[in-house]
Amino acid sequence: MTRGHDDSAAAPVRLARIGGDGIGPEVVDAAVRVVDAVCGDGIEWIDAELGWRAFERTGRALPEATVEALEGCAGALFGAVSSPSHAVDGYRSPIVELRRRMDLYANVRPLRGGAVDAVVVRENTEGLYAGRERWEREGEVAVAERVISRRATERIARFACELAQSRGASRARPPLLTVVHKANVLRVSDGLFRETALDVAAGFPEIEVEEQLVDSMAYRMILEPERYDVIVAPNLYGDILSDAGAALVGGLGVVGSANCGERFCLAEPVHGSAPDIAGRGIANPIAAVSAAALLLERVGLADEAGRVEVALAEHREAGPRTPDRGGDATTEEATADLLRRV
Ligand code: NAI
Ligand code: MG
Repeated sequence: MTRGHDDSAAAPVRLARIGGDGIGPEVVDAAVRVVDAVCGDGIEWIDAELGWRAFERTGRALPEATVEALEGCAGALFGAVSSPSHAVDGYRSPIVELRRRMDLYANVRPLRGGAVDAVVVRENTEGLYAGRERWEREGEVAVAERVISRRATERIARFACELAQSRGASRARPPLLTVVHKANVLRVSDGLFRETALDVAAGFPEIEVEEQLVDSMAYRMILEPERYDVIVAPNLYGDILSDAGAALVGGLGVVGSANCGERFCLAEPVHGSAPDIAGRGIANPIAAVSAAALLLERVGLADEAGRVEVALAEHREAGPRTPDRGGDATTEEATADLLRRV
């Protein structure tokens, strides 16, 4: 779903900004400034809350008012939440709940840096994270069921193929789709994923399609990451591969991701709320700005997204570095450099 964009007459796109906890508000603020510098009046921001502070204030990690506000938006830029490490009565992960309620079925994580230009597309609603866990034999055995449906696999495969197709335009090589599974062992569930994804991909003749077992995929992705383009995987495999991939291209402080549904996109940096550096003004804004570029792309502002991407690439090459990247720049200095470059 990309909406047409007409400079002269277009109504502003309404997006939510959700700082959340820890460094979340610091990096979201930086990203909003970069977006506004590129889009001018093209974006109407509304503020919304979720996370630990929201829980303490309202008793809900995902307040109902937030869900209602988001339903009137095309997407949201979200910072991070702090999750308690011990169980707290009534607290559930607001992001997991939001993914479910807004049916954000595709998790997209671009991996860019050096010669690497790939994107992991992870199925976000089922697999081993379907939440079907139980005890057996009086607590001696724990069982988790893994759910793969034809419908969810079809739509994640179609999403990945359309993405490969649209990326194809800007790449020197023909689009390549890598379908990741373990169908040699999980013959029924991953068998269905494999067969369904390959069927969908057959409808896109211009895309080169290959399949890869998840363990050898982890090996090859680290050995020769530059050969990949779009990688599609069931939930758990995609989760692991996308974190491994983030390490390949510069780490937590620089990678963004987006949770996409048909009508809504929730973009976020890959990192968490970084309580160890919160409030010190030294958080790296790159990951949040990368997430913002993904969001612009998804809501139909592809040219603007491209301008942010170019500024990010220049900034990573030549701009002042925050301490996580070995420099001594502040969030403000890094953001000012990005603002100059857009
Ligand atoms: P983290 O990503 O918050 O921090 C890990 C390390 O990376 C820390 O040393 C931190 O200072 C550094 N770091 C992270 N982002 C950075 C940035 N933008 N600039 C510079 N340095 C950065 O992960 P951690 O420490 O495991 O979790 C902290 C909290 O965040 C926990 O409450 C956790 O539950 C939550 N969390 C939330 C996520 C989300 O909202 N999607 C994702 C991961 C963790
Ligand atoms: Mg993860």
